[in-house]
Amino acid sequence: MEVIISQDAKSASDKAARYIADVITRKPDCVLGLATGSTPLHLYNRLVQMHKNDGLDFSKVTTFNLDEYLGLKPEDPQSYHYFMFENLFSKINIDPRNVNIPDGMTDNVMTFCNYYERKIRESGGIDLQILGIGTDGHIGFNEPTSSFASRTRIKTLTRETIQSNARFFGNDESKVPQHVITMGIGTVMDAANILMLAFGKDKANAVAASIEGPVSAFTPASILQMHRHVKFLIDEPAAANLKLSDYYKWVYDRKPEWNRWL
Ligand code: PGA
Repeated sequence: MEVIISQDAKSASDKAARYIADVITRKPDCVLGLATGSTPLHLYNRLVQMHKNDGLDFSKVTTFNLDEYLGLKPEDPQSYHYFMFENLFSKINIDPRNVNIPDGMTDNVMTFCNYYERKIRESGGIDLQILGIGTDGHIGFNEPTSSFASRTRIKTLTRETIQSNARFFGNDESKVPQHVITMGIGTVMDAANILMLAFGKDKANAVAASIEGPVSAFTPASILQMHRHVKFLIDEPAAANLKLSDYYKWVYDRKPEWNRWL
């Protein structure tokens, strides 16, 4: 596990964008796992800039999004379909046929979830998964006590997540769907590489529990301690409760020259 603490969310996101651009350059037909929410917004802006200014080419890239609200149509501004096209896909040269987002309007959730898992497998698996973290330590919408072995399925959101996401629904909790489709923790852990982004003081407890706490389904992101290739790209406020932050900075300052680009 690599913990990289940046001054602010913008510089952490710039590092994430450089990392993703490097993956795409090395493997133009790579498979990316993508996240929504406020955390990846700057990252997606940077990728759009890299596409426009530096020709970063998404034409062969395939994407799988982590999750979607059940009951929201793709054209609903609160849906993650809408979010992804608004903030990224409509601004880059990705082939819409290579875009995969869970279908929040499916009339057969279990069949859809099995299909989504199969499609990830048939694509060759996710090369790089981008993650954000919930204040309760969730990844995707895998709320506390989600099984570490879980696959794509329906979940019921916690009150905390509903309250926290109400800001996207005019601060009206009653408008936030209570059910979602989300990749499972087992699905996320199958990705070859994982980039976790976490910004702001509200994430400090979840970040510390995930990196330095015991591995426990109570903090879903703590399973990342068991992944071989995971990087936490976090800002100073999100790092506030880490006991070993000086050590993580020490390591970063001493990265070997060949690995310094990040
Ligand atoms: P946020 O959500 O990026 O809007 O903070 C992250 C999450 O809940 O996973």
